[in-house]
Amino acid sequence: MEVQKDEDFRPNFHFTPEKNWMNDPNGMFFYNGYFHLYFQHYPDDNVWGPMHWGHAISTDMITWKEQPIAIYPDEKGYIFSGSAVVDNNNTSGFGKDGKVPIVAIFTYHDPKGEEAGETDYQSQAIAYSLDEGKTWTKYEGNPVIENPGIKDFRDPKVTWDGIHQQWVMVLAADDKSLFYTSQNLKEWELASEFGKGVGAHGGVWECPDFFPMYVEGSDEVKWVLIQSLNPGGYNGGSGTQYFVGDFDGKEFTPVKEMQDLGEDHHYWIDFGKDNYAGVTWANIPEENGRKLFIGWMSNWLYAQKVPTESWRSAMTVARELKLEKKGDSYIITSVPAEELQNYRSINYKEDNVKIKGTTKLIDSSRIDLASAEIRFNISELKQTNYKFRLSNSQGDELIFGYDHSKKEFYLDRSEAGQTDFSDDFANKISTAPRLSDAEGLNGIIILDKTSIELFFDDGKTVMTEIFFPNYPWEQLSISSEGDEFSMDHIEAYQLKF
Ligand code: FRU
Repeated sequence: MEVQKDEDFRPNFHFTPEKNWMNDPNGMFFYNGYFHLYFQHYPDDNVWGPMHWGHAISTDMITWKEQPIAIYPDEKGYIFSGSAVVDNNNTSGFGKDGKVPIVAIFTYHDPKGEEAGETDYQSQAIAYSLDEGKTWTKYEGNPVIENPGIKDFRDPKVTWDGIHQQWVMVLAADDKSLFYTSQNLKEWELASEFGKGVGAHGGVWECPDFFPMYVEGSDEVKWVLIQSLNPGGYNGGSGTQYFVGDFDGKEFTPVKEMQDLGEDHHYWIDFGKDNYAGVTWANIPEENGRKLFIGWMSNWLYAQKVPTESWRSAMTVARELKLEKKGDSYIITSVPAEELQNYRSINYKEDNVKIKGTTKLIDSSRIDLASAEIRFNISELKQTNYKFRLSNSQGDELIFGYDHSKKEFYLDRSEAGQTDFSDDFANKISTAPRLSDAEGLNGIIILDKTSIELFFDDGKTVMTEIFFPNYPWEQLSISSEGDEFSMDHIEAYQLKF
């Protein structure tokens, strides 16, 4: 039998570049009915190269239309990751004839400086658009922040801080986050730094995000710092941790419980191997108030070797983040953006499913498992291993589940098809801690051709991973290694695009 390859693997609904290489999401903003997504892009090859900002637009963050390349590299360097803001009050002065300027803030990476062994080859620059993000003019005064002699000095993320009436930028410097403030997006002042001795430092810090959020069910506001790092992720390679605390307009102070956070902590946006460099959309209308996030669904350990040729890498599904109080600390939860539900078609629901030994839950003749949303609920957990299995007639299987005796989720893609392109792809089973004390367990499983996104306990523990099966999945089953149990509810939807 022919095995799947290349275009067979192109996701049904996760964003992929039409051609060639993509990494981090960049410059995300909402304006005039459209969500904009820019991305690190090398249009001439399927591996990383001179970076451009590719561009895609969507009215719902689910289906995307790729646009012409937005920002090209130039004599100052490659266009590395960064953000974009809608400058509604024209603080930058780039606005003209009543047109609202959109301002992009990115890193120039000068490959000549890097080759020459210099340490100051990354600097921050801006560009503006007067046509809603289609075309961009680079500012003649670039760079707006020169390199102070720090080798890794990049990925500026800017947010309007309405509390202190200023623009605030966070950027990654070696393994720290630096905060800068500005009134006009052109002149920036270094305000403080964060990160020394706090959290995971197994690699370089990259692609931060920083914003205030309401704590669920209260009027309390906390500031959240999202901070990707590579390597040093929870299950190896690239990963995204976060910190919650207060910001006085200059300095970020994490809550007490996070002040001495060691390397081995549980504050990760996603515990799986494939959600990196994710950040949130700017300019979401106040009345909506959602914090919407998207990440790059790969890992630098193997991203350039995955078995696709014409395109490489997809984004995660867009997610809504929430901030919840948990004991004396706080956690971020994430679930798929509700817009995904508009694509539900055929469905299947069952209550009180008895599970004894291995029990088939869904068959691909009913619901295409390459484009599905599955939700389940178990109201009372037993001391057993709840083991899900996706399988096909080629003998591939993807195993995931929850072991209640260890209070641990897991995801095992070692037999899920093609894995030999990299030793790091399937060398270990990914695990994640359970962060809920509830008696019951609920989960959302989002399946595309080459990815699984698991949201357990209302998004308290999330795991995202990619896989490359030789043939599409034909069946989802569950088994218990101990007692018989019942699944109180399961519903599955075929998603149609
Ligand atoms: C993260 C990253 C960023 C950088 C970009 C370059 O994946 O290394 O730090 O700006 O990719 O493409």
